[in-house]
Amino acid sequence: MNLTDRPRRLRRDGVRELVSETDVSASDLIAPVFVDATTDERVPIETMPGHERVPIEQAVDRVGEIRETGVEAVIVFGVPESKDSEGSRAWAAEGVVQEAVRRISAETDAYVITDVCLCEYTEHGHCGPLEPDAREEPTLTVDNDRTLDLLGEIAVSHADAGADMVAPSGMMDGMVGAIRESLDEVGHTEVPIMSYAAKYESAFYGPFRDAADGAPAFGDRRHYQMDPANSREAMREVALDVRQGADVLMVKPALPYLDIVRDLRENFDHPVAAYNVSGEYAMLHAAAEKGWLDLDAVAYESLLSIKRAGADLILTYFAEDIADRL
Ligand code: PBG
Repeated sequence: MNLTDRPRRLRRDGVRELVSETDVSASDLIAPVFVDATTDERVPIETMPGHERVPIEQAVDRVGEIRETGVEAVIVFGVPESKDSEGSRAWAAEGVVQEAVRRISAETDAYVITDVCLCEYTEHGHCGPLEPDAREEPTLTVDNDRTLDLLGEIAVSHADAGADMVAPSGMMDGMVGAIRESLDEVGHTEVPIMSYAAKYESAFYGPFRDAADGAPAFGDRRHYQMDPANSREAMREVALDVRQGADVLMVKPALPYLDIVRDLRENFDHPVAAYNVSGEYAMLHAAAEKGWLDLDAVAYESLLSIKRAGADLILTYFAEDIADRL
């Protein structure tokens, strides 16, 4: 045996850390927060152990708990007190997200991001008002261009309430440009846009739709979210968002789409975010509950893989648990 190349030499404790290429730190993580205008108590989210919907009055406390773990950024989702066909509670100045963000930004030092979408606010659960679609069954689809106006209003209402960054998640064509224009028109030129640029029509969002009460009442989101079969299309989507002024580019979900995270890292210079979604969280919890996986270990390994693939920031329901252990 004449083995000169022995990679095992660098795997011993002591040197192992020195040659480690990637790590996860609390400052990479964004914790989702669900604020619910229909309750005055915290409601556990059954499919996402450890997470709750909190009433507006407890939004500040909830963010305080997150900040204590070292996580600095949150993304706020709202469950409104009522829904209609247009989703009008989404841009109401005293809507659930606006009220929560006003308090969070006044009373905490968290960096506050808001999800800009209509699916939690429309009674049909789609990401914008509907229009007849003559070309296909089902005969209704989201009215893209009308939705753009509404997304602009939502983003402005969030920024007015104190949001530090807005994150449009509806996969409407032109959404980043429309939001940038609306924000700039009223002077919110400093509010960045994190675009859910490559968002797939994924079955991994199941638990979130319980959490935020945003499941479509009929049909699915294939008319606007991306086909999981496609990767070149993701680069096209991302390029469009870049041209429209996106500041941060997100891939969603994360683990089943690490190839897309890597493609994006290699093809663009913007910060890359990945959303480790509700189903990715729920499946690890379910396996751990059965004693089949070590939850802390697989959670950390998941986030590490997402970083290794090229993500700079990660939106994850594991944020607090992981940050706590770092
Ligand atoms: C839409 C939105 C969704 C998620 C984040 N923003 C749901 C959807 O597209 O159906 C999913 C997040 C998750 O599964 O964790 N507002």
